[in-house]
Amino acid sequence: MRTLVTGGSGFIGSAVVDRLVADGHQVTVVDDLSTGRRENLADALASGRVELAEVDLAGPELAGVVAGARPEVVYHLAAQIDVRRSVSDPLHDARVNVLGTIALAKAALEAGCRRLVFASSGGTVYGEPDPSALPIDERYPPRVTNPYGVSKRSAEDYLASFAELHGLEPVSLRLGNVYGPRQDPHGEAGVVAIFCNRLLADEPVTIFGDGRQTRDYVFVDDVVDAFVAGGEHPDAPGARVNIGTGVETSVLELYDALRGVAGFGAEPEFAPARPGELARIALDCGEAGRVLGWAPKADLADGLARTWAWAFQAVNAGSVGG
Ligand SMILES: NC(=O)c1ccc[n+]([C@@H]2O[C@H](COP(=O)([O-])OP(=O)(O)OC[C@H]3O[C@@H](n4cnc5c(N)ncnc54)[C@H](O)[C@@H]3O)[C@@H](O)[C@H]2O)c1
Repeated sequence: MRTLVTGGSGFIGSAVVDRLVADGHQVTVVDDLSTGRRENLADALASGRVELAEVDLAGPELAGVVAGARPEVVYHLAAQIDVRRSVSDPLHDARVNVLGTIALAKAALEAGCRRLVFASSGGTVYGEPDPSALPIDERYPPRVTNPYGVSKRSAEDYLASFAELHGLEPVSLRLGNVYGPRQDPHGEAGVVAIFCNRLLADEPVTIFGDGRQTRDYVFVDDVVDAFVAGGEHPDAPGARVNIGTGVETSVLELYDALRGVAGFGAEPEFAPARPGELARIALDCGEAGRVLGWAPKADLADGLARTWAWAFQAVNAGSVGG
């Protein structure tokens, strides 16, 4: 099958690309390498089944790349992913996440492709949930609190309107806090990657606030399974589904679990809570089971062990700095 993956040189996108290659598909990657890394695609590019088009999702070259690739399925992961940047520069956020998604959907339809699997965000499209409602399902009424969440929800809505108007088959995956190999330890969001990197550099871990804030941590291989199911499953079109574990884990619990896996680690340091951070979230993923036949396989201990093994190896190979 011919596929196209936007954001394919990033953390999650490159894992999707590796799986598509392993399953025997052709892949065109669209990525401007703004946060992604060519090295993430080293094995995939060596397979001879992957082409990297270094273009801006929201730029004028996109339509030509999609037309040339003639994909049967598009996996859309390219995005401005930084919540704080969305607050300081909402125009850039909307340009990439909303206009870029519209441009991609139009180009896909023009190239004869209907199925588009979109990386939405379970951590932001609902806003701050009422703790008594956790884990929340997809019917939870949204009270979106930042431009990134607005852009992800708007992109979902545009895709739904293209389904009505033009027969697009969108599948929106509302991802929890994804972690695993290749996550950027220098980014804002990847707390597992940041903690691994700090431990390996023998530096103290900083926890913002009291560490009792919770997230739904989901391992990247499980997320890749969800993208594959979204691209293949006959019942998937139109779905907007949570992809997480349903389990709430506090930052303190996460750090303790990671220290358990590593076998060492100093007591954390604490810094003031960052404004605008969610207090608690967990995602009910029953709907993904019903419409995609999907359920997470890795529990936190398993996923952390695999992430730690990768980070340890990457630091020792010199590809991730401290
Ligand atoms: N990591 C998470 O926990 C998480 C949670 C919810 C949703 N998501 C979504 O999953 C997707 C992948 O996130 P990730 O964590 O792998 O981040 P990432 O930064 O590793 O990947 C994003 C990719 O998009 C590319 N990109 C950014 N702007 C672009 C543009 N204008 N044109 C072309 N390419 C561009 C980047 O170079 C990068 O390769 C994003 O859509 C993100 O919003 C991630």
